[in-house]
Amino acid sequence: MEKKILVTRRYPETGIRLLEQENFHLTFWEKEKPMTQDELIKQAKTHDALLCTLTDKIDSHFFNECSHLDIISQFAVGYDNIDIASATRLGIPIGFTPDAMSEATADIAFGLMIAVARKMFFLHKTIINGQWGYFNPTGNLGIELKHKTLGIFGLGRIGIKMAQRCKNAYEMNILYHNRTPSKTAEKLLDATYVEFEDLLSQSDVLSVHCALTPETKDIFNQRAFKRMKPSALFINTARGPIHHEKDLICAIRVGDIWGAGLDVTNPEPMQPDNPLLFMENVCVLPHVGSGTQEARNQMSVLAAMNIIEFYKKGHLPHIVNPEVLES
Ligand code: GLV
Repeated sequence: MEKKILVTRRYPETGIRLLEQENFHLTFWEKEKPMTQDELIKQAKTHDALLCTLTDKIDSHFFNECSHLDIISQFAVGYDNIDIASATRLGIPIGFTPDAMSEATADIAFGLMIAVARKMFFLHKTIINGQWGYFNPTGNLGIELKHKTLGIFGLGRIGIKMAQRCKNAYEMNILYHNRTPSKTAEKLLDATYVEFEDLLSQSDVLSVHCALTPETKDIFNQRAFKRMKPSALFINTARGPIHHEKDLICAIRVGDIWGAGLDVTNPEPMQPDNPLLFMENVCVLPHVGSGTQEARNQMSVLAAMNIIEFYKKGHLPHIVNPEVLES
């Protein structure tokens, strides 16, 4: 195929090989640091399609400059870096890679929950700092999770996997809040739909799995943390801007909640002097939810197949804005 694809990072070979087999002309951005938006626009202008990811800023300015693109294939399940309304207006289909990373991301949410409950990252640091003293019968006590209540904010593909892990390991009671209740998920997990306020006040662990939208931005703010239990764990593996970082720091300092496990921050990368990194009951990871070989290989295949099937058959197996192909 004569089409020219701009590949904005080094994605796993699984998908790249599929594109090469179809004889697309691929241009790779080889550096570890993502392109600036100026560079992205400059390069995209001479290409037909984009294979990109969440570090690429594809906003209205980008679309003003690059309205010619046939397709944008995003290597991620989230697509808040892309102005979907502009893409749709221009008739540009946006592909994404759902479900490929659900197991991997749920593992990170589950792992962070246990790590926070037992202060694992903090205790690891005490050894590095030469502070492993004597066995202390009353020091550094964590909390147990058995029979606690898990509140899921956004019970979709990843939220369901997190809930299953918590149910199987700790027989946790599952509450959830979504835009619309899901009868299937309720049956699968014996989960109960509750209003947002009840999710806040009843959860022992509150785990965020929703998309970042204008409605969810900063929804976990001072007001929300004040309604949570002082013993509650807040886990966010979705997107950093869903929690208000200053309010989270304050909530932990004053004891409105017990602690937090974060795989996402705002901004990313987090600065090394961020107070959250020095709190006993906080564990932070550098946005690695989908970071397993299995997940990334599969994401690469899905992202490639979106491009291949679009050019061969006129449709994408996983599309964000299907309406552009319907008209
Ligand atoms: C990762 O954050 C993703 O959206 O795939």
